[in-house]
Amino acid sequence: PPIDEMLNLHDFEAVAKTVLPAKAWAYYSSGGEDEITIRENRAAFQRVWFRPRVLRDVSTVDWSHIILGQKSSMPVYISATALGKLGHPDGELNVTRAAGKHGVIQMIPTLASCSFDEIVDAAQPGQPLFLQLYVNRDREITKKYVQHAEKRGVKALFITVDAPQLGRREKDMRMKAVDDNGTAKVQDGQQDVKKNEGISRAISSFIDPSLSWKDMAWFRSITNMPIILKGVATPEDALLAYDAGVQGIVLSNHGGRQLDTSFSGLENLPPIIAALKTRGPWPNPNFSVFVDGGVRRASDVLKALALGASAVGIGRGFLYSFCAYGQEGVERAIQILHDEFQMNMRLIGARNTNEIVPEMVDASALSSR
Ligand code: FNR
Repeated sequence: PPIDEMLNLHDFEAVAKTVLPAKAWAYYSSGGEDEITIRENRAAFQRVWFRPRVLRDVSTVDWSHIILGQKSSMPVYISATALGKLGHPDGELNVTRAAGKHGVIQMIPTLASCSFDEIVDAAQPGQPLFLQLYVNRDREITKKYVQHAEKRGVKALFITVDAPQLGRREKDMRMKAVDDNGTAKVQDGQQDVKKNEGISRAISSFIDPSLSWKDMAWFRSITNMPIILKGVATPEDALLAYDAGVQGIVLSNHGGRQLDTSFSGLENLPPIIAALKTRGPWPNPNFSVFVDGGVRRASDVLKALALGASAVGIGRGFLYSFCAYGQEGVERAIQILHDEFQMNMRLIGARNTNEIVPEMVDASALSSR
């Protein structure tokens, strides 16, 4: 269908499903085991309701936002999704170019199909970029990669901590990772490719499962970038992260692709914010709490912000937009979110992101515990 028929982020998913090769669709859409967490990621947003305020002169509303000190045109960043070229020949560059044009921040995946330098070279001068890191068993490789990224101007390091082993994504495993020429150019060193285990498992064997809290001091010693731990799911670990001196966490279950029947990031948000408040006032300018998983609407983002999130990540919503329409698709997806932000900010009575407060949502039905 023509791109102007895309009215929301779900529409891109429907198109991607029809245009993608079966193997790419299986890799992108699959989740861990029974995919209950994927379903829950969406469902959780539907258990939070708005308490909109009226008569607040919303003639001008501004949803631009600061994320880790960087300007963003919306309180959303584009989360890392691996292997973009399975879905479109330009892969991650579709995102880089669209993000640069529209003031949105891209998180570059370690397992991007395009090389790290190609992606940075495609960015505009001064365009902020984040980096997602899978930690290599060979720490020298990781150190070089991180320091190179910092030198090239990357603004924050998101260390993925929920994937000491890749989840069993059975749709993907059934497809078998036969040799795909050139689809997976792994940047980060040696891989021992095991065929017959699906694309995800084939590319991920370099990831170090021995990573632990003890390594955090080392990461702080090799970089001055803010360090964010991506994939924290409990108040206990949120406090350990805070005490380890990192700059933030992402409440994420990796888009439902790792541990199945883990809670959604949104559902984990209230207890984690409550735990962090025991360390001092919230929001805390030195510690960010991001949320991702199942975000497809600006209204989802506003709910997470109201519950205390610092900003929100979207993975598949943007991934599917470039699978379907390349760079133009990502631009359209961004524009759709802008339109949704404008309307929803007006309708809840918030003129800027500081005015999105806990009282604007009722989350009493959120917990499924
Ligand atoms: C991911 N995600 C991910 N995360 C990460 O830390 N490293 C990675 O390489 C990838 N790769 C990846 C591939 C694909 C196809 C998907 C869908 C996701 C997880 C991603 O960063 C983010 O946490 C989720 O995508 C958020 O959920 P939604 O927005 O996809 O529902």
